[in-house]
Amino acid sequence: MSKVTVVGAGNVGATAANVMAIREVADEVVMIDIKEGVSEGKAMDMMQTANLLDMNTRINGVTNNYEATANSDVVVITSGIPRKPGMTREELIGVNAGIVKQVTESVLAHSPNAIIVCVSNPMDTMTYLIHKISGLPKNRIIGMGGALDSSRFKYYLSKAIDANPNEIEGFVIGGHGDTTMIPMKRFAAYRGVPVSTLVPAETLDKVAADTMVGGATLTKLLGTSAWYAPGAATAEVVEAILHDQKCMIPCSALLEGEYGEKDLCIGVPCILGKNGIEKIVELELNAEEKELFAKSAAAVRKTNAALPC
Ligand code: NAI
Ligand code: 2OP
Repeated sequence: MSKVTVVGAGNVGATAANVMAIREVADEVVMIDIKEGVSEGKAMDMMQTANLLDMNTRINGVTNNYEATANSDVVVITSGIPRKPGMTREELIGVNAGIVKQVTESVLAHSPNAIIVCVSNPMDTMTYLIHKISGLPKNRIIGMGGALDSSRFKYYLSKAIDANPNEIEGFVIGGHGDTTMIPMKRFAAYRGVPVSTLVPAETLDKVAADTMVGGATLTKLLGTSAWYAPGAATAEVVEAILHDQKCMIPCSALLEGEYGEKDLCIGVPCILGKNGIEKIVELELNAEEKELFAKSAAAVRKTNAALPC
């Protein structure tokens, strides 16, 4: 029996729970929130799709009851406030750090062996905070951002070359921030054909720029941050873990010398499997990419310095 807890049954948490349930990523998905009745209501609504969707996952919703989360294999943390139009992810640190700290302690008290997937923003810094307060081994703390940013990159690439997004390869590393993420243009491909041979360099630059502000674009349109792709990207990460897929997905991981950085969580390609982050893949970056990565790391470090602990 596999069990996932999703903390925060808001837009991203509920979407992630729903995608995981429909894809039968786990046998049981528990949603927990502080808002009375919200998790229970969403769980009931989702369970009423079971016969319509031929879904066999059991979904439970609870308010503040961590006992119901006991013995989870994976815990996803989405609790906290999202950004509003004009806000950066970094501005959320004060409120979200307190929430993430309390939630981490509560979930680990009931699921001491869980792998934690952090979604709350500023995600790289919240992932680092979880390392600091939990003392868990680095393979068991994973920041979700690169999976989403890579999917957005592939979306914009597919539009630029008028292709099916499923036939595009591409990934984004670095911090999960409007100015810190690094869409890896050099590795982007359409069915193995380098995208750089299919579109002019300016088009590729525009794709990268659109990707970087992909979250901000949606926040402006929606009045709050996005949830469909963030929820699906979270489910992709959990599925890779629980189904021991050994997929390479960019995630925020604690670096201990990889990419020339240490004591920092930032997006790098990771192999995900039943042990969480089973390997950090060290790509040979060129000079331009190395410079971008160093700048991104410096910016994430600056946000970490604002942590209230
Ligand atoms: P939301 O406001 O829809 O949901 C957040 C939920 O957390 C609310 O239901 C709230 O009641 C709950 N919550 C607050 N404090 C809690 C606590 N102590 N324990 C349990 N639940 C608590 O927000 P949304 O849109 O779901 O975003 C959630 C977080 O995810 C935000 O910080 C947002 O910036 C971040 N995010 C991160 C992404 C990523 O790629 N890493 C992508 C999209 C959003
Ligand atoms: C997003 O990228 C705001 O992190 C959130 O949509």
